[in-house]
Amino acid sequence: MKIFSGSTNKPLAEKVAKLLKKPLGRLEIHVFADEEKRVRVLDKVLGEDCVVVQSTSTNADINYMELFFIIDALKRNGAKSVTVVIPYLGYQRQDHVFRGGEAVSMGVVSKILEAVETNKLITFDLHSSRIPELFSIPVLHLSALPIFAKTIREKHWDDDQTVIVSPDMGGVRRVKILCGLLNNMPYMAIEKNRDLKSGKISMEEIKTVTKKRAIIVDDMISTGATIVKAAKLLRKKGAEEIFVFSTHPVFAGNAPLLLQESVVNKIFVTDTISISREKLFPKLQILSIGEMIAKNLRR
Ligand code: R5P
Repeated sequence: MKIFSGSTNKPLAEKVAKLLKKPLGRLEIHVFADEEKRVRVLDKVLGEDCVVVQSTSTNADINYMELFFIIDALKRNGAKSVTVVIPYLGYQRQDHVFRGGEAVSMGVVSKILEAVETNKLITFDLHSSRIPELFSIPVLHLSALPIFAKTIREKHWDDDQTVIVSPDMGGVRRVKILCGLLNNMPYMAIEKNRDLKSGKISMEEIKTVTKKRAIIVDDMISTGATIVKAAKLLRKKGAEEIFVFSTHPVFAGNAPLLLQESVVNKIFVTDTISISREKLFPKLQILSIGEMIAKNLRR
């Protein structure tokens, strides 16, 4: 097996390669003056099972194009199979038509991945569990929830002073799974509404939070608005300590600043997306999915 990395999440690719005791494969990625890219594979891959690690967060379009070129280069050079590890699958929130006239962007991405002859996709905590149905290649849908459960246990937050919170109704399935991993801890959900045109969110009032500690669990943090609003509501209703566990740190715009200045005590995310130095902040802690990827590639 040979492991390659696109430009977006080299630290994760290096971690996975190290755990599998393999060197990272060599690619030449050249960017022309007009920002077109040329990808060239420098290792022999004839008859090899290849793995490519690439996160597709901001800028999703550029990152996807680079990935398509890497897959094409590997296949043209005789790779037996190409498994793509896209820990954060960009465009997943556009997996169906919300308002008449829209494109199904996730469906388009799945078609291109198949057209360049991807053999298998490994990804994490998809926004909807139905997204794999858009693909006709095998999709291994992994989750960071066991990593979150382990951290919650280590911190001794799996006690009767804690409630797990979904910041929207769509996340209830996710928190139920997490609670199941933690001896069926109690959970609650906030009703969030998003204006489909402006993207602005509002949240329904909730009852008093009878627990001292609230742990908000979400699949991704993009602008940070959902977490900041949910935390404010929970604090107003009596939660003294608020922690957040979220798989994908998309961190669009000034999300890091909003999160640092929020009432949240600590925010745990994973390395599905590599966070640039200027987006790190004191309340942030990063957990790794590297071992989980390596374990599944070893099988
Ligand atoms: C929405 O349904 C998702 O689960 C997240 O809550 C949402 O994408 C987070 O976005 P933002 O950080 O911009 O509020």
